[in-house]
Amino acid sequence: MNEKQLVGEKAVEYIKDGMVVGLGTGSTAYYMIKKLGKLVQEGLNIKGIPTSKQTAALASEHGITLVDFKNVKQIDIAIDGADEFDADLNLIKGGGGALLREKIIANAASAFIVIADSSKAVKKLGGFPLPVEIVKFGADMTLQKIAGLGCEPRIRVDGNQAYITDNGNYIIDCDFQEIQSPEELESQLNMIPGVVENGLFVNMAESLITIKNGVLVEETR
Ligand code: A5P
Repeated sequence: MNEKQLVGEKAVEYIKDGMVVGLGTGSTAYYMIKKLGKLVQEGLNIKGIPTSKQTAALASEHGITLVDFKNVKQIDIAIDGADEFDADLNLIKGGGGALLREKIIANAASAFIVIADSSKAVKKLGGFPLPVEIVKFGADMTLQKIAGLGCEPRIRVDGNQAYITDNGNYIIDCDFQEIQSPEELESQLNMIPGVVENGLFVNMAESLITIKNGVLVEETR
């Protein structure tokens, strides 16, 4: 079993009957959703709230009933992958372009559990270019403002066109190399008009399931 499968399948142990579950996006969340689908077929009664159109399609394919914010009073748990995590369990997310819905759901959930293979562990966040979701209007100006925070921003492309999120926006990938203060940068970015949200998830993860020295471990903040 590969690391993504190990951590993804482990995470479903947190899910109990009757829960509303935030379903993450990406290749690690894929294994969690697949396993959850199996448990649902065996009688587990849960409802899922997806963080992307891609995840909605995958979850439906695996027989998971989906709900949206209109139909739920609370989200009990959200489980999602990460592109990087540091020792404080702060994250960079959004490699798959779903950071806005991921952050809304992680923030709304009573517990947010991260699943990440060992390659995602870093001393300092920023080696992975930080994804920032921006509206199309005034994008060139927004890019300049983002660059002013000390990075090299570039508009994400999909083939020869700009990549468009589920929310109809652009993603800007920002190469900061090393982020000294994730908390400060998270709010500085969100202060720029045109920025919708960024992929820094600071003080949000309650637990992390990962692999250390070949062993499955769970860390809590
Ligand atoms: C999706 O937008 C991301 O935040 C993913 O959760 C993140 O990129 C991790 O993806 P993988 O599990 O595919 O590495």
